Amino acid sequence: MRIVLVGPPGAGKGTQATRLAETLHIPHISTGDLFRANISQQTELGKLAKSYMNAGNLVPDEVTIAMAKDRMEQPDAEGGFLLDGFPRNVSQAEALDELLETEGMKLDAVLDLEAPEDEVVKRIAGRRVCRNEPKHVFHVTYTPPKKEGVCDVCGGELYQRDDDSEETVRKRLEVYHTQTEPIIDYYKSQGLVATIAATGPVDEVTRRALEALKRDQ
Ligand code: AP5
Ligand code: ZN
Repeated sequence: MRIVLVGPPGAGKGTQATRLAETLHIPHISTGDLFRANISQQTELGKLAKSYMNAGNLVPDEVTIAMAKDRMEQPDAEGGFLLDGFPRNVSQAEALDELLETEGMKLDAVLDLEAPEDEVVKRIAGRRVCRNEPKHVFHVTYTPPKKEGVCDVCGGELYQRDDDSEETVRKRLEVYHTQTEPIIDYYKSQGLVATIAATGPVDEVTRRALEALKRDQ
């Protein structure tokens, strides 16, 4: 299957993508994670992306689309993929459509994860991420690690993302409303959108998402 996950920062895209990708046996492709890997490896792309990310702005389309295309063309993505955080504006959605069309492929579904703004702000403020790959994600209150600051899964150090400051989160939300939300209508016109309530237990949200995907098949 070829699936796009969309939703505001903190809606739980990364959390759900990891689970859905495992169940559906498709790679989880997160442009945010790809940029963060470039930042930690101090590549030119990482240096460029960092300034945009820390300000809460989108990284320019040209480099983002090239990076996403390159990842989608890896052999493990031949049978399908789950995109998390891409596309993020209408030009990226159009670029993805063009790319899929050239390959004779199409999207199967767009899952729109909905969560209220005060909830996503709380989730982001408490988020802690593992330094190792794959990025295990915790929340200081909702899904706390057994030992503070240490990943339950791999023992890695947990840290708070640079762009999770209150000021940057507000900017990311504004960017989401102005630039990303329009892609929901774009995909609605293609009949691809399933809206998922992203509140309640993580397992329950996963169940809703899998249910919606089954209905779409
Ligand atoms: P990106 O990394 O994509 O961040 P985001 O979209 O802002 O989303 P988040 O990672 O903040 O949240 P999430 O929805 O994945 O939530 P999570 O599962 O972690 O992008 C970062 C930046 O990179 C962008 O601002 C931009 O600069 C750049 N970028 C990326 N893609 C780009 C593109 N295509 N074009 C241009 N620029 C791009 O969950 C959040 C917290 O809540 C966690 O602590 C989790 O444990 C907890 N949680 C999750 N689900 C639940 C639940 N059901 N109940 C309670 N807690 C929960
Ligand atoms: Zn870990």
